[in-house]
Amino acid sequence: MAEELIIPVGTERKEIYDALLPQINALIETESDLTANLANIAAALKEAFGFFWVGFYIAKEGQLVLGPFQGPIACTRIPFHKGVCGASYSQQKTIIVPDVDQFPGHIACASASKSEIVLPVFHRNRTVAMVLDVDSDQLNDFSETDAQGLQSILTLLERKL
Ligand code: SME
Repeated sequence: MAEELIIPVGTERKEIYDALLPQINALIETESDLTANLANIAAALKEAFGFFWVGFYIAKEGQLVLGPFQGPIACTRIPFHKGVCGASYSQQKTIIVPDVDQFPGHIACASASKSEIVLPVFHRNRTVAMVLDVDSDQLNDFSETDAQGLQSILTLLERKL
């Protein structure tokens, strides 16, 4: 396993996602432990993009429960229908929120968070296993490029669920 990420400097996010994808694949393909893989994915995204907060909320015990993450401490449990994470979970789709103050029911774990993207991660039977939440301290920081780049990474993860 590589010990450090190689991240192109001064390039567009698309190029960074493209560079990251095979490296994340190498990190997780031979590891069967889910927690270890989620932890490395969160760390790789934080390191590559410097996002304010990156992490997973795992569906268990009838709620979304905080999993491996990088960034400030966060809410530990989110009801299935609350916040952006709950909306992504229950609607089973990626949600981009350009301004969290305009999203009804947004859960403010940190006031510095200004925009976010949340993607569902599916089991093979198409139920939602968890969501990936990425928060930025900039308004309107996420686009379709992030949705596609993050989805490619999550597709690697879904193969292991
Ligand atoms: N903002 C999220 C909650 C999780 S934290 O931001 C880490 C939401 O509204 O679902």
